[in-house]
Amino acid sequence: MFHPEGPSLKELAIQAMSSTTRGYDLLAPKFEHTPFRTPDDLLAPMAQAVGPDGSVEAALDICCGTGAAMRWLRPKCTSHVTGIDLSAGMLEEADRQVNAADGTAEVRLAQENAMDMPFRAEFDVVTCNGAFGHILEPDQDTFAHGVHRALKPGGRFMFITRQMPGVTNPTWWAYRGFNAVMHVRNFVYKPPFIMFYLTFTVDRAREVLERNGFSVEFRAPYSGRFAPARLCIATRKE
Ligand SMILES: C[S@@+](CC[C@H](N)C(=O)[O-])C[C@H]1O[C@@H](n2cnc3c(N)ncnc32)[C@H](O)[C@@H]1O
Repeated sequence: MFHPEGPSLKELAIQAMSSTTRGYDLLAPKFEHTPFRTPDDLLAPMAQAVGPDGSVEAALDICCGTGAAMRWLRPKCTSHVTGIDLSAGMLEEADRQVNAADGTAEVRLAQENAMDMPFRAEFDVVTCNGAFGHILEPDQDTFAHGVHRALKPGGRFMFITRQMPGVTNPTWWAYRGFNAVMHVRNFVYKPPFIMFYLTFTVDRAREVLERNGFSVEFRAPYSGRFAPARLCIATRKE
């Protein structure tokens, strides 16, 4: 549908009627060829903001998928780069892709829930991209608290989001339309597929992160079709 090597419309429909995790297990072999994989043009400025190669000891990518961000993070780390995801299929792809990437940091992958991470003050940098739609708004504080706990004091949580578009912007209608379809799908069909757009945009992310112990900065290093994107750098205060 998106790319000759990507999933067909029929495959996408089957995935959308599965649970979130099963859907990603099915999508995993073709995920790199879908628009759901965060593009390198978005990840490169985030990696640049992390610092030069070898500038941090350890980094974590939450909801790592096939390891798109981990490939950028690995050369930055002197010790290890860790990825967590609920989907075993996505982790299998990440294992292949990240071990073949630049850098010598140990690659650690674990099937863990972003809402209940086992890490304590372990990472200099934590990232999460393309996955806030899977975290329902009432769960965002729990998520932010887990990220805070996983970071060393002074560590940075970095991710890409966008400003909430105005209601006159067609993007607002496209995403809200998608969300409405998802609500209907989850109402009439189980298991649910949790995926909603525009849930962790700039103002909302700032509010949630500030009340969970972060100082928050947004940068705008993007242009062209990615101009609305913002890079968030949220630093753990203590
Ligand atoms: C759209 S993909 C994004 C993957 C990758 N971060 C990227 O940007 O290319 C979302 C990923 O989040 C994972 N995921 C969803 N909910 C999760 C949860 N509660 N804990 C861990 N992983 C989760 C899915 O399995 C999937 O691999």
